[in-house]
Amino acid sequence: MSEIAKLEALEILDSRGNPTLAVTATLSNGVKATAKVPSGASTGKREAVELRDGDKARYGGKGVLKAKSHVEGEIQNVIRGFDANDQKALDKKLCELDGTPNKARLGANAILGVSLAVARASAEDRGLPFYASLGNEAANLIPAPWFNVLNGGSHADSNVDFQEFMISPVGAPRYSEGLRAAAETFHALKAVLHKNGYSTGVGDEGGFAPELKSNEEPIELILEAIQKAGYKPGKDLVIVLDPATSELFEDGSYVFEKSDKSRKSPAQMVEFWKSLLDRYPEIWAIEDGVAEDDHSGWQQLTKTLGDRIQLIGDDNFVTNPTLFRQGIKDGVANAILIKLNQIGTLTETLECIEIARSSGYGAVISHRSGETDDTSIADLAVAAGMGQIKTGSTSRGERIAKYNRFLEIERELGSKARYAGATIYDRWQTSVKA
Ligand code: PGA
Ligand code: ZN
Repeated sequence: MSEIAKLEALEILDSRGNPTLAVTATLSNGVKATAKVPSGASTGKREAVELRDGDKARYGGKGVLKAKSHVEGEIQNVIRGFDANDQKALDKKLCELDGTPNKARLGANAILGVSLAVARASAEDRGLPFYASLGNEAANLIPAPWFNVLNGGSHADSNVDFQEFMISPVGAPRYSEGLRAAAETFHALKAVLHKNGYSTGVGDEGGFAPELKSNEEPIELILEAIQKAGYKPGKDLVIVLDPATSELFEDGSYVFEKSDKSRKSPAQMVEFWKSLLDRYPEIWAIEDGVAEDDHSGWQQLTKTLGDRIQLIGDDNFVTNPTLFRQGIKDGVANAILIKLNQIGTLTETLECIEIARSSGYGAVISHRSGETDDTSIADLAVAAGMGQIKTGSTSRGERIAKYNRFLEIERELGSKARYAGATIYDRWQTSVKA
């Protein structure tokens, strides 16, 4: 048995220049591994709590020295001597030690750092790649990535209400070809934006963030870019939206503050998506199409469009097994977004993935808008075998780190590597094409 011998935490910066934690776990045989914690901007209300110092004199209150001291103090004292290969027992202990329902006392950033660092050390210790160590040594499915090529909403200063406009190369024969198609489309999009006189500075997730005039213009520009790059929209590459509508929801209505200032009731919002899909059949998934607090809106959306496209719950499920189970019971969404730091332990994250699998829901592994060079989610996506991930555009080092990690995995798996594009495309398109 390899025991946990030491935990160290370092206050580092994330991709937005805000503090976050890097946690290093050392085992009794000297094996060590580090995990770095991400951070969201458009967070769900029921996410586990990211502990910040609140000391305005340091990083505007965003320092994480308290979380660091929890890792090196209380947490280390209790888990020193724990079996590094028993992730479930470790994560259970971390939850008990925290003692709150949302990890507010020790901090989900402190807890996730420890949970992931130990999981990575355990993989090292057993001589396995991280994706194989995460539970399934036969894991070989590389997910279809969703590349966030145009940013709006709270991720960019523009006139676009919706947060993310993504492309997914589902028609590619293998992952590396899909990555190439997306990168070529990204460059074509840059040329299209230039031609139209728009800026090509990028937002938090590496997508362009120009001052576009409407919420539909990004779709038009993306379709043009896909064609310019020599691909077929709706076949080689499809479109995915994350409008992050919890950010638009005010007093029971959806307010399109940044574009045309219109207000929409939940029923009108569902109608809006339906008519958008009629006009743009290249759209095959919408994440957070209605707000986290709009439960009946979610049911209506699922009833209306659930057999046509993927409807992914992010802010409403927050990778929380209890909220997810309830949502499934209530007929909400048909897929879940999976973010490790929304819940704070690896075990609870894997539990959500299992619930999705056994309920016929999709599961999409996801980064946060604040990231580091940590690539754990790439391995998690292969281990999960659910076939989809979103981790930003084909620009910005912290996003590329994950996409490059899949290239390594693809090479390592050799002829055993499978690419999820076609499988996932068929599964979700059948009812649309019928
Ligand atoms: P966040 O955005 O990381 O800022 O929460 C990503 C998302 O909404 O999916
Ligand atoms: Zn989202």
